[in-house]
Amino acid sequence: MRLKKKIALVTGAAGGIGRAAALCFAAEGAMVVVSDINAPGCIETLELLESTGGKGMFIQADVTHEDQILSLYKKIADEFGKLDIVVNIAGGDCEPAADVEDIDYERMSANLDVNLKSCIISCREAARVMKPQGFGKIVNMSSLVYRGSPNQFSYSAAKGGIYAFTRSLAMSLGRYGITVNALAPALVEVPAFVNALGPERWEMLRQDCAQRYPLGRVATPDDVARCALFLASDDASFITGQILEISGGARL
Ligand SMILES: NC(=O)c1ccc[n+]([C@@H]2O[C@H](COP(=O)([O-])OP(=O)(O)OC[C@H]3O[C@@H](n4cnc5c(N)ncnc54)[C@H](O)[C@@H]3O)[C@@H](O)[C@H]2O)c1
Repeated sequence: MRLKKKIALVTGAAGGIGRAAALCFAAEGAMVVVSDINAPGCIETLELLESTGGKGMFIQADVTHEDQILSLYKKIADEFGKLDIVVNIAGGDCEPAADVEDIDYERMSANLDVNLKSCIISCREAARVMKPQGFGKIVNMSSLVYRGSPNQFSYSAAKGGIYAFTRSLAMSLGRYGITVNALAPALVEVPAFVNALGPERWEMLRQDCAQRYPLGRVATPDDVARCALFLASDDASFITGQILEISGGARL
């Protein structure tokens, strides 16, 4: 058990990757605070986690609202008095496949709010807890599009911003025993994606990516969850400020 006695917060825990991470962390002995805007989905994650012998707690929060992030961290402090691991997974692309001329101010702002600003504020609150305790592991969710993507302008900017912020934070928090890293998956098969596209369009996308990725398939949520576990565990004790591409070799 790699996370015994650790308290871990996973945001976006109702979603495909967040749920996999929550289950994976609980299986390694952590007490996992699962959080999401989607209460029923997150309660389902908690039930799954508990049905397999894990320990968890649900706190609902919309990470685009600073007061809800503050309240999330306050509830954790009141309940546990410490926080070892934060995995900021909540997010998603609010403006997919737009031409540059069509960038919409509201959708662009939504992308920056839910992906980048939420991550910055959550990390600020994590630092406030972790600095005094002299220990912490922060894992942020970027995406392979941090390198740029021809029609995901604001999403790639947000995910690139997460990488820059992760590096800045790693430089600043290292001396306090806190590591800060980011994950950059290529396409991951999650129910939300498949449902949004519909089975036919999803299958076309999946096959197209599988042909282009050297490993010949798209990622599973577990592929990503295990990388989050690695970065949150002592196995990654001397790794900070890094972005881990979980891409099956895409874009080498
Ligand atoms: N699926 C992919 O191919 C892929 C690839 C690279 C990066 N990512 C990133 O991984 C993360 C998880 O995505 P996923 O693929 O599991 O999709 P998902 O839609 O299943 O999960 C996203 C979760 O975030 C939650 N969320 C959205 N807005 C929120 C808010 N304002 N406050 C709190 N929670 C909120 C949703 O309710 C959902 O449970 C996202 O940050 C996404 O950008 C996904």
